[in-house]
Amino acid sequence: QKGGYPSFMAKEIHEQATAVADTLLGRIVEGRLQLDEMSIDEAVLRTVDKIVVVACGTAANAGNVAKYAIEHWTRIPVEVELAHEFRYRDPVVNEKTLVVAISQSGETMDTLMAMRHAKEQGAKVVALCNTRGATIPREADAALYLHVGPEIAVASTKAYLGQITASYLLGLYLAQVRGNLFADEVAAIMADLEQIPAHVQTVLDGSAQIEELAREMKDATSVLFLGRHVGYPTALEGALKLKEIAYIHAEGFAAGELKHGPIALVEEGQPVFVIVPSPGGRDSLHSKVVSNIQEVRARGARTLVIAEEGDTVVEPYADVIMRVPATRTLFAPLLTVIPLQIFSCELATAKGLDVDQPRNLAKSVTVE
Ligand code: M6R
Repeated sequence: QKGGYPSFMAKEIHEQATAVADTLLGRIVEGRLQLDEMSIDEAVLRTVDKIVVVACGTAANAGNVAKYAIEHWTRIPVEVELAHEFRYRDPVVNEKTLVVAISQSGETMDTLMAMRHAKEQGAKVVALCNTRGATIPREADAALYLHVGPEIAVASTKAYLGQITASYLLGLYLAQVRGNLFADEVAAIMADLEQIPAHVQTVLDGSAQIEELAREMKDATSVLFLGRHVGYPTALEGALKLKEIAYIHAEGFAAGELKHGPIALVEEGQPVFVIVPSPGGRDSLHSKVVSNIQEVRARGARTLVIAEEGDTVVEPYADVIMRVPATRTLFAPLLTVIPLQIFSCELATAKGLDVDQPRNLAKSVTVE
C-alpha cells in the first residue's frame, strides 16, 4: 500500500511530479487554458473587484502563494483569510467578491462556514478541492478538482502542490477572460507550467542529500525558515510541516521582518532554512535575500539554503545548499517546498515518530 516507502507521507511526496501533471491534465488544449468546470458565468467573472481566499493550515499557505500569482496576472486585489478568522468578524464581501475556498478534504468545517457566510452576502464561490463530491465543492458555485489522488498522511504534501497548481490555472483563466493577458502570453506561461512536473522529479531525485541532513539534525529543538515574496508562504509551510510531524519548534518569517524582531532568536548554531528567489527574477529580491543570509550567518546561524541551479552568489554564505531547477519566480513554490517536506518527513522518521498519524491531529477537521 505504501509502495515500498516507509510512510504514506514519503510515498505522497514522491508522487508529486505526477500530482502536478494530473492537476494540469486536460486543462491545456493546444496551448489554451480550458476550464470546463468553471461554471460561473464569464460576465460575472468580469465584474469581480476583489478575491478572498478562505482556507486553513497548508491550504491557507497555498492561498498565500496564489495571492502573488493571481494579483500579478489579473490585477484583482486578493486577500487570504484563515477561514476561522474570516467568519467571526464582519468581512466586507458582496456580489463583486469572488471567494476561493481551498480545501483538500472539502470537509473542513471552518472553511465551509466561511464559504457559506460569503455566499449569504452574495459572493460567488469557487472551490479548489481534492475530494470529489465533498461538501465544499458541492455547495460552491464552481469546483476545480486537484485530481492528485487520495492523500492519506495527515501532513498535506501532494495536495499542496495540487492546490497551488489549480490556483495558477484559476488566475490565468481569470486573466484570459478579463483580457489582462493576451492569448500568446497565457500560452507562454502555460508552457512553463507544463515543465514543472519534470522539475519536481529533478528535485525528488536529489532527496538523498536532504534525507542525510534530516537524520543528522534529528535532535534539533528549534528551526527557523525565511523567505520573501512567494518564498514567504513556503517558509510558513516548511515550519508547519516540521511542527506537525516532527514536534520541533519551528517558525517561518518573511525575511524582511528579521530586523523587526526575529533576528534576536538567532544564536550560535541556530539552523535557519532560507528560500532564495531566482537571480533571474526581480534583481532586488535576490540580493535582499542574500543579505538576509549574511545577517543571520554573521550571528552564528547555520544556513540551510534552497537556491536555483547555477546561483553561485549564495555559495559563500551557505552551510548547506539544496538545488532546485530554474523556473519563473511565481512557479518556484512548487519546487522549493519539496526539500522542506522531505526534511520533515525524514527527520520524523529518524526520531521514530508516527509520520502519517501525528499526535493530536486529524486528517480532516470537521469540527469548529
Ligand atoms: O482538508 P483541508 O485542506 O481543508 O485541510 C486544511 C488543514 O487542516 C490541513 O491543511 C492541515 O493544516 C494539514 N494537516 C497540514 O499538513
